[in-house]
Parts: sequence; C-alpha cells; structure tokens
Amino acid sequence: MPYVEVDGRLQHYRERGTGPVALFVHGFPLDATLWLDQLTALAGRRRCIAPDLSGSGRSAPVTGEPLTMERHAADLSALLDRLEVDRVDLIGLSMGGYVALAFAERFPARLRSLALVDTRSGPDSADGKAGRDAAIERVLDGGRGALADTMLVALLGPHPTAAARARLRTMVETTPYETIVGALAGMRDRPDRTAVLGTVAVPAAVIVGADDTVTPPSEAEAMAAALPDATLHVVAGAGHLTPIEQPAAVTAALAALFDRVDA
Ligand code: MLT
Repeated sequence: MPYVEVDGRLQHYRERGTGPVALFVHGFPLDATLWLDQLTALAGRRRCIAPDLSGSGRSAPVTGEPLTMERHAADLSALLDRLEVDRVDLIGLSMGGYVALAFAERFPARLRSLALVDTRSGPDSADGKAGRDAAIERVLDGGRGALADTMLVALLGPHPTAAARARLRTMVETTPYETIVGALAGMRDRPDRTAVLGTVAVPAAVIVGADDTVTPPSEAEAMAAALPDATLHVVAGAGHLTPIEQPAAVTAALAALFDRVDA
C-alpha cells in the first residue's frame, strides 16, 4: 500500500493506471474509497491517484487542529512533490472541491484541468457556521453512527442503492472523531473563493447530482458560468455523492474533460 511522508505524517493514497496524473480529492467525512469506480474506469487514461486527506482513511491521525482547506491544499502539493509529479487533472467532491479551489488559488501552475463535483465556491452562511458548531456537539454526544444515519438521508438521493448506503456508512463510521471535528471547523472557517473561479485558466467541468440538496444544481450552474472554460453535467438519479450513486455518469463526464485536455 502506498504511503508518503507529508509534513512529518504518513499520508496514504490509492493509485491505478498510468499516464498523466489525475488527483481525486474526497469530501467530508469520507476517504479515498469514494473514487474507487472512477479509479478503475479511468486507469486506461490517467495515473489516477486518490489520497486519504490528512487525518482521514489510512492517513495518519491529526489531533486538536482545525483541518483547513489551505492545509489540505498544501499537503496535496507536498504529496505531488514527493511523487515528483508536476501538473494534475484535479477533481474534488464537496469539501474536496473547497480544497481544490484553495489549491487552484495557491498552486495555479500545477493544474492541467479542474473538475468540481457536488460543491460550491462560497463560504458558510452565519446559519451554516452555527450548524457546524452544533454538528461538532452532536457527533461528540451521539457518535459516528448517529452522524452516518443523518448523512445517509442528507447526502444520498431519494432512491439510493444498498451499495451506496453501505459505502457511505463505512466511510463515516471509520473517520476518526478528531478528523470530523477538525474538518467541521475547517469548513466553517473557509473563505469565499468565488473570485478564484474566474482565474482558472484550464479546461474545467462542474458535475452535480440532480437531487443534490447540500450543494444544489443552482450552485453548480453559477460556478460553471463563472469559470472561463467549463462544461456543466447534471447527473440524474444522484444526490450529493454522484461518484458512488451514478459512477458511470461521473466517469463519462471526467473522460469528456480529459478528451478536451488531450485534444
Ligand atoms: C461534504 O460532502 O464534503 C460536505 O457535506 C461538505 C459540507 O458540509 O459543506
């Protein structure tokens, strides 16, 4: 299993395929297994690398620190340095999209293309920030099982498959408490990165589940309009977790982005 040392901690990543690197960034409170279908399906086009973000999955725990989007972006850049990779097709879902925009802001020269999946560029509203603090209390009181119960309803579309439900529950219940708390604080405090969209000088795709109620299609439409060169893909039969709810549709949208990049 591949690990590299990043900022003094072991970071785990999954890897399939050969060719130019595509970097897949998962959301909250998830891990690299979110992207397993895409890693397999796109291995003929790209060297697909999906890290477990710091504190998540099999990466080393991070205790008592907010897991900011900027920190994750810096860790991803350090991971690429360790792997001697220069530019990537960067794909981020939800919190992974917040990280992708922080990465695009800080390391624009490292982007070959950008895919924003079920995410938004704006910050949390005042209510949203209060909701993060309440969620921290709830998960510490009620446990990860209760968080998973809530997320199964909030994140998946109206008719989820048993496989999608099982995958989501496993990811939530195996994410360390410290990571859940640190990520909620990091997302609460993230800045508005809407202005970054206009600076993205590479081909982009915006992908969203038609039934996504967390980051709805209206947000995706606005981001696609603000990006200089983006295509919008609204995926039927999916909520907020399109890569596991409609894996083939997400793969097809990413393959179409790679076609534009490779043309
Ligand atoms: C995620 O899927 O990463 C989160 O739902 C994002 C968020 O809570 O803002």
